Order: sequence, then structure tokens, then C-alpha cells
Amino acid sequence: MSMKIPFLSKQSKEESDSLSEENIPNHVAIIMDGNGRWAQKRGLPRFAGHKEGVSTVNKIVKTAVRANVKVLTLYTFSTENWKRPKQEVEYILKLPKEFLHVYLPSLMENNVRIQTIGDFQALPDHTQEAVSYAIEKTKNNTGLILNFALNYGSRHEILKAVKQIATELKEENMDMDSLDEDTFSKYLYTKGVSDPDLLIRTGGECRLSNFMLWQLAYTEFWFTDKLWPEFTEDIFYEALLAYQQRKRRYGGI
Ligand code: IPE
Ligand code: IPE
Ligand code: MG
Repeated sequence: MSMKIPFLSKQSKEESDSLSEENIPNHVAIIMDGNGRWAQKRGLPRFAGHKEGVSTVNKIVKTAVRANVKVLTLYTFSTENWKRPKQEVEYILKLPKEFLHVYLPSLMENNVRIQTIGDFQALPDHTQEAVSYAIEKTKNNTGLILNFALNYGSRHEILKAVKQIATELKEENMDMDSLDEDTFSKYLYTKGVSDPDLLIRTGGECRLSNFMLWQLAYTEFWFTDKLWPEFTEDIFYEALLAYQQRKRRYGGI
């Protein structure tokens, strides 16, 4: 069955060009890249790109809700992004609060539940407070899980898991034989969330930049040169369509 896409009024689309309702990726992860270059192209300071990027987040969350995606993970700030100038880091880490201040009511209306992955405790207090408030406020929502990767780094996440597991083995709270992939996954930030089905990276780079190395083992990748502030629901739709045309084999035939 092909899906009527209420968020696109493309009457002329061919049947093969339409999204199928049955094969919507359960979990979409996005590396939102290109804010700085977007601003640079316009002769604006980098922060203007980050600000514009926040509006894109709002649009794409709404699109994900309409398309019936279950989990949307957004790479918002990496453990490596601390290398940037202090002012830029401070600006980026104020954006979750600004985003939630403006959009929390509409997230509530859309039944969206907020979660995070990453080293939360190391974020500035004001970021933690705003995000914790939204997590608490949306905790009973049953729609889209909007998962912000905030101060997230995959190697850090994996090392943390290994250390915790090593401690449990040493203290004999776990036996080696029970340690399998499922058990290991429970020590990651993404505990309880299925692996991404589709990864999108905007901004033209074809790399992971330390994002979800374990979880992306069998994910479909889709890259675009579009910079994050110019990413639209039409492009998102294009990515979903490309996903539906992929054949996932997981090593089989
Ligand atoms: C992505 O845009 C946002 C973050 C990494 C926080 P960038 O700021 O990396 O933009 P470019 O890649 O420099 O254009
Ligand atoms: C990845 O983008 C991190 C986020 C989008 C939050 P970067 O701009 O930090 O990645 P690199 O440095 O180009 O690899
Ligand atoms: Mg970048």
C-alpha cells in the first residue's frame, strides 16, 4: 500500500515515487552538519547558522511525527565539539533551552517524548535543567521519541560500558558466559532503544564523527550536500524514499 503524504502536496508523484506506509524506518538518526558553512556563505557569524538550524529541527521533528517514525536521534553536540571556541560552545549549549522554550508546547501537542544520550552531567547546569524539565514533562507521551545526542561520543560510550561490565565481572555480579551483544547493548546510552534503521548526514561530509559506532552496524546510510539549515521536509522525504528502495540483507542473501 502506498502512503498518502499529508505533508507533501505533490499530486503528480508516480506510484513508485510514493512512500510505502509499511516500510517507514522505525529509528532515524541524523548528523545535523553544515550550520557554520551555511552562515559563512551568507557572510554571517557561525552562530547564525546554529540558530537557523534550530528551526530545521522543529520542521523535521514534525515531519517525523507525520511520517510515523518512532525514534528520531539528533546529533546535537559531540564530545569533540568542546574543541571549538568557548563562545561557540556556549552558544550551542544554550540552544536546547531556547528550542524547548519555544517548541515544548507543540512537542506536547504532538505527543513527543524527549530523551538524551551522552554524558549529561558534564553539560552546563542551565542546559541540564532545561532538558531535564522537558524529559520529565514529556515522560508519559507515547508518540515519537525525540532523542538528543548531547555531549555524545561513541568511543566514550563504549569505553564506559566496558568499564562498567569489567567492574561487574570483578565483583561477580555478572558471569562472562552471559555477556552477549544484547547484554552489552544494555550498558550503552541507547539502552532500550532499537538501532537506527536510517542514518542521514547533511553538510556533504561522508563520515561518522564518532556517532553511534556500535548501533550503526547494519544501518542504511544516506548523505546529502545540503547544509542542515537548508534541509527541508522534501529532502527528508527523499531520504525515506531512498531507504525504502534499499535491500537490507544483514549478511544473508
Ligand atoms: C553542525 O554544524 C552543528 C554542530 C556540530 C554543533 P557545524 O557547526 O559543524 O557546521 P560546519 O560543519 O562547520 O559547517
Ligand atoms: C558532527 O559534526 C557533530 C554534530 C553534528 C553534533 P562535526 O562538524 O563536529 O564533525 P567533523 O568535525 O566535521 O567531523
Ligand atoms: Mg561540521
